[in-house]
Amino acid sequence: MPIRLQALAQRAEELAIFDRPGTWLGRQVSRIVKPGPAKDALSGTWLGHPLHPLLTDVPIGAWASSLVLDLVGGNQTRRAARMLVGVGLVSAAPTAAAGLSDFSDTSGVERRVGAVHATFNSVALCLYAASWLARRRGRHSTGVALGLGGGLAVVGGGFLGGHLAYGMGLGVDRTAFDQEPGEWTPVVEESQLAEGQPTSAEAGDVPLVLVRQEGRVLALADTCTHRGGPLHQGELEADAVIVCPWHGSAFAMEDGEVVRGPATARQPAYQTRVIDGTVEVRLGQPSA
Ligand code: FES
Repeated sequence: MPIRLQALAQRAEELAIFDRPGTWLGRQVSRIVKPGPAKDALSGTWLGHPLHPLLTDVPIGAWASSLVLDLVGGNQTRRAARMLVGVGLVSAAPTAAAGLSDFSDTSGVERRVGAVHATFNSVALCLYAASWLARRRGRHSTGVALGLGGGLAVVGGGFLGGHLAYGMGLGVDRTAFDQEPGEWTPVVEESQLAEGQPTSAEAGDVPLVLVRQEGRVLALADTCTHRGGPLHQGELEADAVIVCPWHGSAFAMEDGEVVRGPATARQPAYQTRVIDGTVEVRLGQPSA
């Protein structure tokens, strides 16, 4: 079984037929859900963790529980099984909304696999809806059969969701594996920093974005924690907030806090000092 599922992931990466509908869908979602409170809510910015993978536990758990009751519960648990199928259907709505919001920030092969993932889950949703209706009308055996079909689609969709996260790194903090300097490290001449102008530099292998503002030098990791966008190409807003050019996440240059999503993880922030005209950085909150 695991080998078959890995083949499914590989096949999904090759299915170019999903590119056009995936691009169309991504654009429609981006048009509706723009950076701001709704995007933050669906992304999980308020939680400090991607929301979609947390929400998936509810429909998957409800549907898996209904399957257990179908298999071993007997006649007296039919009503409970139908209720669980219903709970899965209701909870699938916010889960899908959060997933679509994440999907709109993908591109390339990620988007292709995301489109196949969404297709599996849509099939599961239709089958479970039909299962609930059949149970409601007293056609229990039909409802169970449809539920089994829905369960198989959930396994396929869930595996592709896992592949997106664990195989392709979607949703992973893109700075998680940076080798951040713990010691003071020279990165750039102070004279190269223009007031209020984001500038790129490197501390060892770690790309940084630096901003000189009102006599201070502020430094963050340059790789956006969301999907890896280059922050030094972004715009600096008031109060030293830098906006990622890719999907509009905004971070406080002061300490890396997320001001606006879809990012959920803060940017690593660096302490800075100027020695003989050279800016040095080391990892740590600037106020430390
Ligand atoms: S890469 Fe998505 S907001 Fe920066």
